[in-house]
Amino acid sequence: MKLLVTAGPTREHLDPVRFLSNRSTGKMGFAVAQAAAERGHAVTLVAGPVSLPTPAGVARIDVVSALDMLAAVEECLPGHDALVMSAAVADWRPKRASATKLKKSGMHPVLELEPNPDILQTLLPIKGQRLFVGFAAETGVPLAEARRKLEAKGLDLIVANDVTLPDAGFAVDTNRVTLVSASGTPEALPLMSKLAAGREIVRWLERHACP
Ligand code: CTP
Repeated sequence: MKLLVTAGPTREHLDPVRFLSNRSTGKMGFAVAQAAAERGHAVTLVAGPVSLPTPAGVARIDVVSALDMLAAVEECLPGHDALVMSAAVADWRPKRASATKLKKSGMHPVLELEPNPDILQTLLPIKGQRLFVGFAAETGVPLAEARRKLEAKGLDLIVANDVTLPDAGFAVDTNRVTLVSASGTPEALPLMSKLAAGREIVRWLERHACP
């Protein structure tokens, strides 16, 4: 299989030194990429700004903003059989970005934002036979929201987790996820390393990929 994986946060710059972002460290997406490469799949990893080494055998493309990530994923998708969107894409960007550092004396202290495109929804019309996997990182019981996102984004699988648990979510090496597919009953996996969770996701893709 040829797998396209995204990971990490995106940064939405206000000026060359300031940006909006989120707590994602990229660990889950890098774990999916590593698990897939270990199984012999060809993997392209589109990574937001993170400080993680590239897993062996993985082709990496570094991006900064949500628009950069969309452009990279859109360009790569045709050569791949599945897309795993682990990235925590920033939902908004500053309406105006300055090429030079904003001086506080001249700055209007109100930040005007505009929405970023939803990468999964933008690419849905060209999905074809490919498998699309999303993540739903929620604060609280994630299943209902995960189902809503599964349908809204036309996904084959969504990986739901509660990011408020101390052993799941951002910056830790473990995760407690539930695999929610369009057809089957939700599969709640026990606490495991992100790499082990990555292997479960890759196994799901192998079971559901077109022959
Ligand atoms: N996603 C995306 N493009 C965006 C935002 C999110 O493709 N602009 C993807 C994420 O990579 C993830 C899935 O959509 O696989 C769900 O992301 P999430 O942040 O949980 O949900 P949102 O759609 O952003 O909704 P909300 O922030 O309201 O929970």
